[in-house]
Amino acid sequence: MSVLSTGNTAKLYCLNWIERYVVEKGSEVKILDLGCGTALNFVNFLRLYPQISYVGVEPSRDSCLKAQQNLSGLNARVVNSPGYHVHEKLREKFDIVVSFSVLEHVYRRLDYLSSANACLKEDGYFLINYDAGHFIHGKEKLITAIGQAIARFGIERYYQSFVKEEDLLRMLERIRFKIIEKKFFNTSLKGTYKVIPESKRADYMKKWLRFELWLNELGIEYDDSKARFFGTRNFILAHK
Ligand SMILES: C[S@@+](CC[C@H](N)C(=O)[O-])C[C@H]1O[C@@H](n2cnc3c(N)ncnc32)[C@H](O)[C@@H]1O
Repeated sequence: MSVLSTGNTAKLYCLNWIERYVVEKGSEVKILDLGCGTALNFVNFLRLYPQISYVGVEPSRDSCLKAQQNLSGLNARVVNSPGYHVHEKLREKFDIVVSFSVLEHVYRRLDYLSSANACLKEDGYFLINYDAGHFIHGKEKLITAIGQAIARFGIERYYQSFVKEEDLLRMLERIRFKIIEKKFFNTSLKGTYKVIPESKRADYMKKWLRFELWLNELGIEYDDSKARFFGTRNFILAHK
């Protein structure tokens, strides 16, 4: 299996999971990437698996343009929009919906998660991860406070806030998402990645992911206080 993503074990884990799904399915797989940014998570993936059709949704016009460049020649398109009411805009359903490192930046979270739900086929999967830890320190604290204040006046672009486990679980229940699996990732080894020699990074990613999966098997009960150890929360969801 190729290393489909680097620097982040939650994304690598999800991409590996999707790769297995694609190989098992054998036919066309439709993927929706909410908050795709520049879509770099999927460029290698789409090159390897041309039977995937990919739609990225991204509110930032600049990131959208970069995503379009990155995806040129691939079976993919990018839509410039926030992740709200996406089904009404696209009018199609997907086998897999992903949201990588986005939810912590989303102001209207219930609308966003409802949008993912409405875009998902009856037997589809929603893979979502979000950063649980990075708003706690120094400069980020100030950015967070300003972003939260101006979001109330309709400028959502700078919004970020901690995703409380309890709030998320309540929203998933309300939208009728079923939890297939929950995990935590990205211990401080995430920082170590940056000093690993280029030629060893693929190997590092495989070993690091194996280590994080082992941590997930120890029976550690995740709660918000553990966000400082495990930077990323990861869920696989399906319709109830
Ligand atoms: C940290 S980036 C992650 C980008 C990409 N998913 C990745 O993993 O590299 C967060 C992205 O979320 C997008 N975003 C913020 N609020 C959003 C919303 N309400 N709906 C959809 N995307 C949103 C931002 O524009 C940004 O591209």
